[in-house]
Amino acid sequence: MTPQKISIIGCGRVGTALSVFLSKAGYHIAAVASRTRSSAEKTVWAAGACGAVGAIKIYESPAKAAMAGDIIFITTQDHLIEKICSDITTSTVALSSSPETAVGTSVDISSKTIFHCSGALSSCVLSSASDKGANTGSIHPLQSFAPYDPEQKSPFAGINVSVEGNEKAVIIGKELIHALGANYFTIPTKAKTLYHAAAVVASNYLVTLEHFAFELLKEASLSEQKAYEILDPLIQGTLSNIKTRGAVAALTGPIARGDAQIVEKHLSNINERLPEFSKLYRVMGKYTLELAAKRGELDKVSVERLTDILTES
Ligand SMILES: NC(=O)c1ccc[n+]([C@@H]2O[C@H](COP(=O)([O-])OP(=O)(O)OC[C@H]3O[C@@H](n4cnc5c(N)ncnc54)[C@H](OP(=O)(O)O)[C@@H]3O)[C@@H](O)[C@H]2O)c1
Repeated sequence: MTPQKISIIGCGRVGTALSVFLSKAGYHIAAVASRTRSSAEKTVWAAGACGAVGAIKIYESPAKAAMAGDIIFITTQDHLIEKICSDITTSTVALSSSPETAVGTSVDISSKTIFHCSGALSSCVLSSASDKGANTGSIHPLQSFAPYDPEQKSPFAGINVSVEGNEKAVIIGKELIHALGANYFTIPTKAKTLYHAAAVVASNYLVTLEHFAFELLKEASLSEQKAYEILDPLIQGTLSNIKTRGAVAALTGPIARGDAQIVEKHLSNINERLPEFSKLYRVMGKYTLELAAKRGELDKVSVERLTDILTES
């Protein structure tokens, strides 16, 4: 079977990783375009070094790069995706000629599939292309991509990747995700923003909370390295309990036990030493209390006492 031709527009972290690992999976990266030629060259080099199938052409114009592929990835920063897609669809490049010599008519994208990789945006931002008959979708890898390193193992291996879009795009997206060695799951197009908010809470806000814990331990005279060492098994154990028992059952600690005095002491120490974290402690405490109350093990008096303590006076 002829490998499907892929165009990559935006040769950054994700664009380069897709070029390399789709090449390894046997897809032909036909064309790339980026803001700077040097990024495009680095991507071509990286894919070439991994035994890319066929030649990869660099184009200055995203529309010309798009023309060379059956499947187009727009892997620029999120805020540029809609505009680049619209530029591609309104650009005057003839599909019947080669991208080099093309002049005159607009790009016929009706036979193409266009994806972006944003977690926050849905395929709706590609409506300029779907309006002209293209298949459109979003493929979002739940992974943090570092700049490409030839020594790195595939950042796609075994990860979970969401896909949404029109029916054909979802089918093609699943094939691509499978070829990358990742697992796919589908989400409704309308739910894309909530889904991304969940990923931010689960990952970014976890970082913020651990930073909060490190600052408390710094006040207790422990270095950040030591703080990480002592908290690591606790963090891993908690994650494991959430996985096996669910979030509500995994909750332990003074709020879950109704130990109001301990929570009061925490807040008094935090107010004295790190007052900038007082509000965060209270807000998290209130939601933790709601979670604990769901188990039905806390008596009414404890809930009221804890609510009072956690409410800013
Ligand atoms: N990084 C992650 O961990 C991650 C994870 C999941 C999803 N994503 C998503 O993947 C997408 C790409 O993110 P990224 O981290 O790979 O971004 P990135 O490393 O900042 O790369 C973006 C690339 O877009 C190129 N670009 C900018 N303007 C352009 C234009 N007008 N025409 C063509 N190319 C242009 C830039 O080119 P130059 O280098 O030439 O300036 C840059 O290489 C985003 O939608 C993001 O939300 C990222």
